Amino acid sequence: MNLILFGPPGVGKGTQSELLDLRLGIKPISSGVIFRQEIEAETDLGRLAKRYIDQGRLVPDHVTIEMMAKRMRSPDLQRKGFALDGFPRTLPQAEKLDTMLDEMGVEITRVISFEVPDETLVKRLSGRMGCTRCGAIYHRDNKPPKRDWVCDVCNSELFVRSDDQPEAIRSRLQVFHDQTQPIIEYYERTRNVLHIDGRQDPEDVYHQVIGGLGS
Ligand code: AP5
Ligand code: MG
Repeated sequence: MNLILFGPPGVGKGTQSELLDLRLGIKPISSGVIFRQEIEAETDLGRLAKRYIDQGRLVPDHVTIEMMAKRMRSPDLQRKGFALDGFPRTLPQAEKLDTMLDEMGVEITRVISFEVPDETLVKRLSGRMGCTRCGAIYHRDNKPPKRDWVCDVCNSELFVRSDDQPEAIRSRLQVFHDQTQPIIEYYERTRNVLHIDGRQDPEDVYHQVIGGLGS
């Protein structure tokens, strides 16, 4: 099963990818995670991406598309199925992705659009913590780790993302509404979109997804 997880910052794309991977073996491909790995490794791509990410702006299309094309050609992903998280985010990215998928002979099973009001997104992003090693996602109030700042899964230290600061959060939400949300119209025309109410807790959201995929 190959999915596109679509939705604003903080809606729970990463949280649902974790569950889909753990329970169904669907491999997450998150453009944001790949950028953060490049930043951590201090590559040229990472240095370039950081300038945009810290301000809550999109990394330019040609850079993002080239990076994602490389990652998607991995044979392992094509065998097990994947969930794209955070890509595509602009119309040129969506169109280029369709060309890539055609060339690879890969079908997208469903586009899943997660929907949550902005004020809830701000609360989720302001309280998020992530694991430096395994990438597990926590929240100060909704999903606290058992021990302060320590990952339940791998015991590594937790961190706060540099773009989860108030100004960057405001900018990311604005960018989503201006540049990313409009591409859902492209998908409504070209694919079968599953709309999910993301306000419930992660388990309920997951069950909505599984129920919707079966229908
Ligand atoms: P990216 O890493 O993709 O960030 P994002 O889209 O802004 O989304 P987030 O990761 O912030 O949120 P999420 O939906 O994954 O939510 P999560 O599950 O963590 O991108 C970062 C940056 O990289 C971009 O701003 C851009 O600069 C650049 N970039 C990336 N892709 C790009 C592209 N294609 N083109 C150009 N630039 C690109 O959950 C959030 C919090 O809420 C957590 O604390 C979690 O525990 C909690 N939570 C989750 N679900 C629930 C729930 N159901 N109920 C209560 N709490 C919940
Ligand atoms: Mg994420």
